[in-house]
Amino acid sequence: MDNYLETTKDVYKEAALTPDVGLCCTTNPIWRFPGLEIPTIMQEMNYGCGSIVNAGDLVNNPTVLYVGVGGGMELLQFSYFSRKKGGVIGLDVVDEMLEASRKNFKEAEELNPWFKSDFVDLRKGDALNLPIEDESIDVAAQNCLFNIFKEDDLIKSLQEMYRVLKPHGRLVMSDPVSEDEMSDSLRNDERLRALCLSGSIPLQKYIDMITSVGFGTVEIRAKRPYRVLDPGHYDTDKMIHIESVEVCAIKDPMPEDGPCVFTGKTAIYYGNEDLFDDKKGHTLLQNQPLAVCDKTAGAISDLGREDIYISESTFHYDGGGCC
Ligand SMILES: C[S@@+](CC[C@H](N)C(=O)[O-])C[C@H]1O[C@@H](n2cnc3c(N)ncnc32)[C@H](O)[C@@H]1O
Repeated sequence: MDNYLETTKDVYKEAALTPDVGLCCTTNPIWRFPGLEIPTIMQEMNYGCGSIVNAGDLVNNPTVLYVGVGGGMELLQFSYFSRKKGGVIGLDVVDEMLEASRKNFKEAEELNPWFKSDFVDLRKGDALNLPIEDESIDVAAQNCLFNIFKEDDLIKSLQEMYRVLKPHGRLVMSDPVSEDEMSDSLRNDERLRALCLSGSIPLQKYIDMITSVGFGTVEIRAKRPYRVLDPGHYDTDKMIHIESVEVCAIKDPMPEDGPCVFTGKTAIYYGNEDLFDDKKGHTLLQNQPLAVCDKTAGAISDLGREDIYISESTFHYDGGGCC
């Protein structure tokens, strides 16, 4: 096994035994739902970099797989929606992390009368070789783990998530990304990589890797400032900005003309007719916004019309629109 994967295990063994509040952290608030109390220890062990629990993904009593459990907070949040024995499968390679989250679920039981520890099926398992049957999962999730993986392993982990998802199933995830160049010494620093600081890749590359394993639809749901690596503290000449993204990749069939990637672009027709119809399934009503994927935005823009406005990407797409 590559040594950086061993270093990663060591880092999270430490983080399981001695919770490290600053290890990762989110700028967005921790989701709270009516009747859901999150134990303090779970909040202290929030080692994610975004929030991937969205009610809209969790209709029809889904079976959820969560890889890289941390303190268990998001597994509790997912259980809030599934509320069935084994409704959320939690996998981790670090025994101490599995043990810590098991203990945290006992605390959660005391605070949440609706919750039973057996709603979460905790198992030892590796993101690179999931001990899960093909096409058995509705929602697969990971938060701040895949960015640690080097390119070949990242592809392998995405392929594994794709394999276990049912058709039209969803992979929800959050990871740091960065458009800035990093030196080899930062990239190869196993501890910084394990701490989710030096594995980030540019967003477009991250999206390309997701679509390369077969996901036909990708939604960029959020993008936020996350960390900086400055020359005073890290081996870099220039400031490096890291952002965290929240992404949903859907196991839709791959369209013949390529994936639908939603980055928050909107098209608005402002001509003199009631509507504009591109004859490819997209109807723009006069002065009404339509969320469009980047492919559709590009195709409409290529028409060169002066009566259609197409916005820049907001990187805050939350559903609806074309495709
Ligand atoms: C950055 S933490 C994120 C924890 C959790 N997702 C959260 O948001 O708080 C990474 C997690 O992945 C686990 N992990 C590390 N390598 C793994 C692997 N190869 N397969 C599965 N889990 C792994 C760690 O033990 C840790 O629980």
